[in-house]
Amino acid sequence: MLVLGIETSCDETAVAIVRNGKKVLANIVYSQIAIHKEYGGVVPEVASRNHVRKITLVFDEAFKEAGVTARDIDLVAVTHHPGLIGSLLVGINAATIFAMAYDIPLVEVNHIHGHVYANYIEADFNFPILALIVSGGHTELVLMRKHMNFYLLGQTLDDAVGETYDKVGRVLGLDYPAGSAVDKLALEGEAKYSFPLIYLDDENKFNFSFSGLKTAVLNFINSKKMHNEKLSIPDLAASFQNSVIRVLVDKTIAATLKYAVKQIVVAGGVAANRGLRIAMRNEVNKLKNVSLTFPPFTYCTDNAAMIAVAGYFQQQQCEKK
Ligand code: KG4
Ligand code: ZN
Repeated sequence: MLVLGIETSCDETAVAIVRNGKKVLANIVYSQIAIHKEYGGVVPEVASRNHVRKITLVFDEAFKEAGVTARDIDLVAVTHHPGLIGSLLVGINAATIFAMAYDIPLVEVNHIHGHVYANYIEADFNFPILALIVSGGHTELVLMRKHMNFYLLGQTLDDAVGETYDKVGRVLGLDYPAGSAVDKLALEGEAKYSFPLIYLDDENKFNFSFSGLKTAVLNFINSKKMHNEKLSIPDLAASFQNSVIRVLVDKTIAATLKYAVKQIVVAGGVAANRGLRIAMRNEVNKLKNVSLTFPPFTYCTDNAAMIAVAGYFQQQQCEKK
């Protein structure tokens, strides 16, 4: 089955063509980051207008790269939420018109489910699975007992991990989105400064909180500046990253043990974080019979291949019913 995936929920205009939920024939992503960078974040109206400008070009490029024609497509999968409404509508309109014109089924995919299914490109799924979802807008621990079955164990009570990286990066004068630059600095530094590790109480065992850590880091930077004291940026990045990663890894391992999980999958933009990949690998290696999957780097941040993969499984569930 050949699936056409479309993703326009935020600031990436993306179209992909994927065979049987696994083989990516084309994955075209037009990123608007350069446009939004000067505002320090995504401007919704600007994002929608740029999706309109680029979507047809991105479609054409995807078909050219895949070497298939519109008539070869069996299913259209499009992100329908969560996201910026004006941006989502551009992709949904394009998908609806395409599906009607070629008389093929259309499935509406949840963006977060797409992030989780980016892992399927890397490895088959072995249930029960624990998904750690870490993106610019979400931080969640989700238990999956079968395909397209998502049980929320916990989530952030305030800021998302990616958002925290972006805010800390902004204060350090780094361009938006700052996650990957902070990660790079962190690998050059040492976790010398002490920042809070926020685990929360027993009732919130699988929930997260990052706003206190963010405030602690920002206050620390301001106080160093006010007192004209030297501050090592790589060490600061390493210390901040250490506080984030330790909590993410510890909660993931605790949930893995509690629910006798066979596979851990990490999803979302922050899944590209090298510190997180190393720390999670070290801890999972200590467990017996648990595998760990990260999506290939290209499929960590927003893309349409992940939407096509999730759409493929969503359609299979519909056919079973
Ligand atoms: O999943 P994504 O592309 O968009 C959302 O659905 O939110 O995630 C984007 C987020 C941004 O906050 C970005 O700073 C963060 O992922 N990010 C990273 C890294 N690469 C991207 N955060 C930490 N380390 C990275 N290497
Ligand atoms: Zn995303």
